[in-house]
Amino acid sequence: MDNNLQQVVAGFKAYLKQEKKKGRQAVPKSASQETTPKSSTRAAATGRAEAVGQLCQQFADCQNCLLGRTRKKLVFGEGDPDARLMFIGEGPGFDEDQTGRPFIGKAGQLLTKAIETTINLRREEVYIGNIVKCHPMKNPDTPEMRGNDRPPSTEEMAACLPIITRQIEIINPEIICLLGRTATQAILKSNEGLHQLRNQFHTLNFGGKDLQFIATVHPASCLYDPSNKKYIWEDFKKIRDFLKKTS
Ligand code: URA
Repeated sequence: MDNNLQQVVAGFKAYLKQEKKKGRQAVPKSASQETTPKSSTRAAATGRAEAVGQLCQQFADCQNCLLGRTRKKLVFGEGDPDARLMFIGEGPGFDEDQTGRPFIGKAGQLLTKAIETTINLRREEVYIGNIVKCHPMKNPDTPEMRGNDRPPSTEEMAACLPIITRQIEIINPEIICLLGRTATQAILKSNEGLHQLRNQFHTLNFGGKDLQFIATVHPASCLYDPSNKKYIWEDFKKIRDFLKKTS
């Protein structure tokens, strides 16, 4: 099956599983018509899954920047389209480019473990995306080389930002965790350092709704400096407490 189609199907499956668990009937209504708090809506969820799937299809062959020429797979994002919590990273690395899935390399495994052990959610229950959807490489002539990653350029981020913006609007999570400096500065539109911005809530309006954001260090930074894990635990506990309060 085509990678993008797989992502759409996976999104639907996650949604149906969740509905079955709650004993709900799927009664679709447009996600954009939703006015009630996330915890009490049900009809909008199918609308969200459809809208995310359509967005994914719309950008399946994206060539809005040069990264489109060198990618193996576009990494649109994955998870529950009805998630209360969303994560946004910088952009795909080698493993993500090979598979079309976000955060599945070593940094992703660390992220998954932290979600499960600190926030007490399964990876399938959150939504994970990136600022850019294609792998930025230092040397695009050697795509099979590991460690060939670089941060996305300003132009690449500008070309891709409309997609993550729309993903945020559709999914409409209660809280969004920004992973690392690049994602944090791009979304908060700030030049301040990550440690000035992390461990506090930021409110931003997306699609006419005020949403809560919290920034933390990029999980990859913990691979070369494990002492950075303490920041992730600290910030994730804030997320866990926030979700407890609003449920
Ligand atoms: N780093 C990111 O920022 N995103 C991924 O998907 C993987 C690694």
